[in-house]
This record gives sequence, structure tokens and C-alpha cells, in this order.
Amino acid sequence: MKLRDDYRELDEKYVMQIFARDLRIIKGEGAKVWDDKGNEYIDCFAGIAVCSTGHCHPAVASALCEQARQLIHISNLFYVPGQAEFAEQLVNTTGLEGARAFFSNSGTEANEAAIKLARVRTGRKKFVAFVNGFHGRTCGALSMTYKEAYRLPFAPLPYECEFIEFGDLDALTEVVDSSVAAVITEPIQGEAGVLPAPEGFLKGVRDVCTDNESLLILDEVQTGIGRTGKWFGYQHEGITPDIITIAKGIGSGFPMGAIVAREGLSFLPGEHGGTFNGGPLACAAGRATLSVLEGILPDVARKGRLFAEGLSAYNPRQIGLMVGISLGERCAEVQKKCLKAGVLTNCASGSLRLVPPLVITDEEIETAVGVINAALD
Ligand SMILES: Cc1ncc(COP(=O)(O)O)c(C=O)c1O
Repeated sequence: MKLRDDYRELDEKYVMQIFARDLRIIKGEGAKVWDDKGNEYIDCFAGIAVCSTGHCHPAVASALCEQARQLIHISNLFYVPGQAEFAEQLVNTTGLEGARAFFSNSGTEANEAAIKLARVRTGRKKFVAFVNGFHGRTCGALSMTYKEAYRLPFAPLPYECEFIEFGDLDALTEVVDSSVAAVITEPIQGEAGVLPAPEGFLKGVRDVCTDNESLLILDEVQTGIGRTGKWFGYQHEGITPDIITIAKGIGSGFPMGAIVAREGLSFLPGEHGGTFNGGPLACAAGRATLSVLEGILPDVARKGRLFAEGLSAYNPRQIGLMVGISLGERCAEVQKKCLKAGVLTNCASGSLRLVPPLVITDEEIETAVGVINAALD
């Protein structure tokens, strides 16, 4: 397609103006992207923690092209080619024996599915979530998203949800009882600026849920698929959730999401579904993504440490290739300086957030760290 030079005017006229944006990125390869003026950037943002295998990984691109020539869409009323194969691959990454997957098209839809599953299987109506947690923008997921600016304009939301301070196990113990369908949490709060759960907290949440027969939904939309150096954040903690919600990195940028629920926890026919869920292209991208990441995963923790060591003067919070540095109001200015010097970063709730493709090279990390240090100085 020939790109037009008057894209800003076109955008303003025809696209709802939701995002403040400036650059037009037109090409990507690995951890590098290029704008329409030919400027090159090291991408430490990865489309908000999405491009796990890097931009346009050849294995993912080939899998998509090959599938597109065979079959682009077929209803879930038929067996979808490659869907069961992908489900097997995905369930194996969770380590949950007897678990099964349900596919969605995004992270918010994955959470929507998890919430519906918890509601329908427990028969309970109440949910518990955490201060500063983010779970998406559809009304169910929004009920569990903390930020009032996102939630209040759409009240009343469908689910009753109580918010507890992230890390306050005593408060959680007090609130969770036999009326609570599920507790939903991220293992590391991403949109809040990369805030890890305090040591032992997730284990405590697991115990509170077990004691009250409430389900534990772990939102691994941002932390999952290798981002933290293991397939999932909970695997650092030695706990098992009842439902894991997954999206972002799962398809290397092809839109997809999923939930994986433990053995015995499943939708019954008719309870949930979707026209596009787990389509042939999404599953092709997912299979290629997991295969590529298998080889990369063992090196993610080391690469993450390179960021942490390089930025140590600024007290980074780092788990795998997820890094946050608290900056407050300075964040936007630092982000701008990085951009000017050829590094894409992001501000999340006043923290500089780095979530690069997992394929980022040591040299790219070194260059990015140099640019970020200079911007922070
Ligand atoms: C933890 C978490 N959950 C859910 C979502 C929503 O995912 P999506 O934007 O794919 O709907 C996000 C997106 O940033 C997220 O970080």
C-alpha cells in the first residue's frame, strides 16, 4: 500500500482521537524499528510488551503467510487447523497438568472470559482486585481495573469488586470470604509502572483463595510468555493459579489472547464463545512464537540484568525484561530525550517502563542503556 503524506490530517478527520501520537513507524526487524523518515530506533517498548520474538520474526512471518495461503478464517463450529496443537503447546508452558485453554482476541477479552468462568462455576458474584491493578477496558475487566478515571465514567459496572492495597495480606484475609468468586491480580503490576508483588504475597493470596474456595485469577497478560524470564510470573513463586490470563506476547503482535484454567474448571457448551477466537492465523502465530521463545527464554534473565546493572544509579525494578524506574513528572521529558536519541521507551504511571522484545541483543541493550542514562542524567 502506498502511504500518504497527509496521514495526520486523515487521521484527525477519520479516526477517533484517543491517543496522543507523533511518530509513524513503518518497518521493524528484531528489536529495531524505522519511522517514515528513515530514522532508526531501538525498541524498548515492543508495542506495549507485545513483540516478544521481535518485529517480523521470520518464523512468525512465514507461519502467518503459509497459513494465509491455506485458510484465513473458519468458524469454531469446525475444528480449527492448528488450534488444538497450539493449545497443547500453551498448556504445557503453564505446567498445569490437565488444564485446558480457551482462546480470545485480546487481554481484556481473556480477563472477561476468566471473570465469566469464575462467576459461572462458583455461583458467586463478588470479586477482589488490587489498588493500581489494570485488567482491561471492557466492562467486566474494567470492574476490576483500579483507576477511577477509566472506571467511573462507565458506572455502574457489571461486577461488584473490592480493591485492596497490593501486598496487604491482612486486608485481603479480612475481605475474602465465601461470597468471593475470585481474586484477580497481576504478579507484577505493569501499567502501574512495573511493581512486583512483595515477597511471599502471591503465596499468601493463593492460601486465602484456597481457604475460602475462591478462585485465583492471575493476569499474566503483560508478565506472561517469557517476559519475566520464565513462561509465567507465578512460576517464580512456586504457586499454581486456578486461571491464567494471557495475551500481548502470545502472537508476536498478531492479536490473540487466551485463558488456561486448571483441571476441572471449564466453560460448558454455550456459556462463552466468539467468532474469531483461536482462528487459524492467530494459532499459527502463536505456535511459531512459542517455538521461537523456547530457545530464547533461558537468556531473558541475563539480558534483564544487563539493563538493571546499566541503570543501577536510578534504582530500577527489574524482573527479566521488564524494567521500571520511578520518575514522576520527569518521565515524559526523559522519554522524549530517549526518543530523540533513537530509543523507544514508555511512561507508565510516572515510571519509565522498558519492555523490549525478548530477542534484543547485548549490543542493543548497551546502546539503549547509554541513551537512557544520558537522558536521566
Ligand atoms: C495486565 C494487563 N491486563 C490486561 C490488559 C488488557 O489487554 P488488551 O489491551 O490486550 O486488551 C493489559 C494491557 O495493557 C495488561 O497490561
